[in-house]
Amino acid sequence: MVTRPRPVVTRPGPTVTTHLGAPFLQCYLAHPMATNVSTMIDADRIAERVRELGAEITRDYAGRNLVLVCVLKGSFVFTSDLARQIDLPLRVEFLGVRSYGEDTKSSGIVQITHDLTKPVENDHVLVVEDIVDTGLTIAHLLDLLRTRKPASVKVCALLHKPARTRIQVPIDYLGFTIEDKFVVGYGLDWAERYRNLPFIGLVESSS
Ligand code: IMP
Ligand code: MG
Repeated sequence: MVTRPRPVVTRPGPTVTTHLGAPFLQCYLAHPMATNVSTMIDADRIAERVRELGAEITRDYAGRNLVLVCVLKGSFVFTSDLARQIDLPLRVEFLGVRSYGEDTKSSGIVQITHDLTKPVENDHVLVVEDIVDTGLTIAHLLDLLRTRKPASVKVCALLHKPARTRIQVPIDYLGFTIEDKFVVGYGLDWAERYRNLPFIGLVESSS
């Protein structure tokens, strides 16, 4: 049996399980690629958890130069909500990353498609990720960002799938721990679709 290293989650969020039959956007009902989207985490629960994370970050980063690094594309919704729950002066930078093709399996290949626009030297960098799955993407990004000589680098991830960990990464702020299912919505995509769902859902392919 292969044993995988566990990521270091200093403040684990609640573990969620899936329930079927919750609402989904009407436009996806008729989509030929999908038969069903079920709600895993509804919009209210996400908003409540984002408020809690924002309050923690506000406490922890008071008096520091905070730079949120939004990992595109998947984190664009989470970052915009989180930034508005942090009651501190901060900067937002974007890092474009592609780690998945048109499939639901990790390729392990991380391609930078857009770099930071300003240096982060001596700044306190908080990387905002949609989901830590195998951990390969965030491990690569942490290595990259450390070469820019920030005062600190930490990770805030909305979701974590511990069952799929391939490399140990620190997750300093975590929204939710989820089971080993491919999820969409709230910025996360499946072949570039579903990013605009206001909740985290499970999509079942019709093929
Ligand atoms: P990792 O490198 O395997 O940790 O994967 C990181 C990236 O893969 C995430 O930032 C997502 O963009 C994407 N990803 C991983 N799991 C999912 C999922 O369940 N749904 C949508 N995207 C995912
Ligand atoms: Mg991502």
